[in-house]
Amino acid sequence: MPKEHPHIVIAIDGPAASGKSSVARTLARKLRYVYVNTGAMYRAVTWLALEKGVPPLDAGRVQQLLHFTEMECGVRDGESTILLDGVDPTPHLVSEAVNGNVSAIASIPDVRRLLVKKQRAYAFDYDVVMEGRDIGSAVFPETPYKFYIDASAEVRALRRARQGLQDSITSRDKQDSTRRASPLIIAEDAHVIDSSNLTVEGVTGEIFGRLKQKGLPLGEL
Ligand code: DC
Repeated sequence: MPKEHPHIVIAIDGPAASGKSSVARTLARKLRYVYVNTGAMYRAVTWLALEKGVPPLDAGRVQQLLHFTEMECGVRDGESTILLDGVDPTPHLVSEAVNGNVSAIASIPDVRRLLVKKQRAYAFDYDVVMEGRDIGSAVFPETPYKFYIDASAEVRALRRARQGLQDSITSRDKQDSTRRASPLIIAEDAHVIDSSNLTVEGVTGEIFGRLKQKGLPLGEL
């Protein structure tokens, strides 16, 4: 780990509705690390653009909007938080409008540059479990603890439907995997887990086994 990131980073990547959020949150709680949801950051910027009437496909205007917005990324109760000009966008992050536009926002290189900086800053202060699309491949390529959680398209669609959310995960995945800036890929050294037939505990257990193997001190866990 380079000196500027003295803390432990566990990277959890994967497509939409692969179960990575539940796994990352459970893991972070057990380890007492901070859980960082990077998807929420891209969603927050998407919400801001929609709220201010800025078209998500207009990269120049989105960048300008961000330039004039104060973004505070923090931690509360062991989880990442975000405020935009003092406003907490959390209640709006899984709306249909945000789901439909977040991939466009996430493909803007300047947006990614800014958010990646904020994501890396967490590891200055905390041990983290960070989930997203590019954590192992681009945000913390140096971490030895990388996981890629997958699940079949059917299982993922079913999981979203059970959450009662309108989310076109197939088109979002396609956009996220084919964009030019840090697309969703499986990092070469990531441990891949297919969660289609596993519970959250099952996946978390497999990750613990792997972390132990890699020599991460896990105490009583
Ligand atoms: O994990 P999620 O479904 O909440 O993420 C929402 C979108 O944000 C996803 O479609 C792609 C983008 N994203 C990204 O590009 N990079 C990340 N590290 C996390 C999310």
